[in-house]
Amino acid sequence: MIPTHMQLDTLWDKGIRRDIARILFTRTQIHERTIELGQQLTQDYANSNLLVVGILNGSFPFIADLVRTMNMPLDIDFMAVSSYGERTKSSGVVRTLKDLNQSIAHRDVLLVEDIVDTGLTVNYLLENLHTRKPNSIKVCTLLDKREARLVPLQADYVGFSCPNEFVVGYGLDYRGFYRNLPFVGVLKPEIYQTQA
Ligand code: IMP
Repeated sequence: MIPTHMQLDTLWDKGIRRDIARILFTRTQIHERTIELGQQLTQDYANSNLLVVGILNGSFPFIADLVRTMNMPLDIDFMAVSSYGERTKSSGVVRTLKDLNQSIAHRDVLLVEDIVDTGLTVNYLLENLHTRKPNSIKVCTLLDKREARLVPLQADYVGFSCPNEFVVGYGLDYRGFYRNLPFVGVLKPEIYQTQA
């Protein structure tokens, strides 16, 4: 028998879920909000030449779910950047690990992020991509940690406002782990304090 989502969640409780202090956004909340965003984007980008750009690694579950709620022709590409290394505080240094496979000249570009925290990563990406002469660039992020901003940056589409705490799950990691949690939660501080 294939387990239901509820049965799967019970299994999570016995596994890496133990490292989570509290769940902020459940699987269902993320699913419903993603559908709303997808409907909005479908409306806003009707008749455009849209390229959806996922920022790896964190955006992979979000972009996969988001594009499947967008009822329109679109193209998808990925960039990989690194800003945090292995810590829980932004270093401010953004490195491009993988660039786009195509030109974005005259395209409408939608950057998809897992979280905008200090804003340094998206700020860097916007500056970089603007030099390639796209028709437009907008930012869609699942989570927005507004309190943590170091640069004035406002995302165009936001899934949820996020408290200024270190969160993991649904693509977000700590040292590469927890990305596979189906929800977003606050990591128990003792996890990163003991491993610092
Ligand atoms: P920013 O440059 O500070 O806005 O951070 C952007 C990147 O840092 C995100 O794409 C995430 O990979 C990572 N990040 C920021 N906050 C968190 C968090 O609370 N948990 C996990 N990763 C985070």
